[in-house]
Amino acid sequence: MNAELSKAMSEQINKEYYSAFLYLAMANWCSDNGLKGASNWMYAQYQEELAHAQGIYQYMQTRSEPVAFAAIDDPSGDWDNLLDVFKKTLAHEQFVTDSINNLASIAMKVNDHAAYIFLQWYVTEQVEEEGNANDWIDRLTLAADNTNALLNIDEQLSTRVFAAPVIPHTV
Ligand code: FEO
Repeated sequence: MNAELSKAMSEQINKEYYSAFLYLAMANWCSDNGLKGASNWMYAQYQEELAHAQGIYQYMQTRSEPVAFAAIDDPSGDWDNLLDVFKKTLAHEQFVTDSINNLASIAMKVNDHAAYIFLQWYVTEQVEEEGNANDWIDRLTLAADNTNALLNIDEQLSTRVFAAPVIPHTV
């Protein structure tokens, strides 16, 4: 694998683990603030990010590429409310989308068609990741300061069940 692409792929594993850590911190904040449904949703998101990291790790193993294990940044945060949590989620996902798009651009630039194909799952996944955050921002904006509406949204968030994604080309 081209050295620039290999290094960027390795760094993406760290970014996915940071994402996992961020959503685990958010799950914790939600739980501490009486929002058990939102905590469940964020915990599922944490599991999803672990799967994203593992997918790239496994792909690097398949390609016999080195992986660097850098420290994961502290994700701790004190969010204003659940709307703020989801706004920060969207901002983070937009950052990840840029990072994934950059990976795909490098793969294309260095003619690594296999890596480019592998990355397409992540490109598509980011559309869903941003879309989910946007949907909850819209609903929470509608709820505004209405506690009953907030608790109704929390109930909806409680129904999320994590299903491990099947990421192509990882075996
Ligand atoms: Fe791994 Fe939320 O994207």
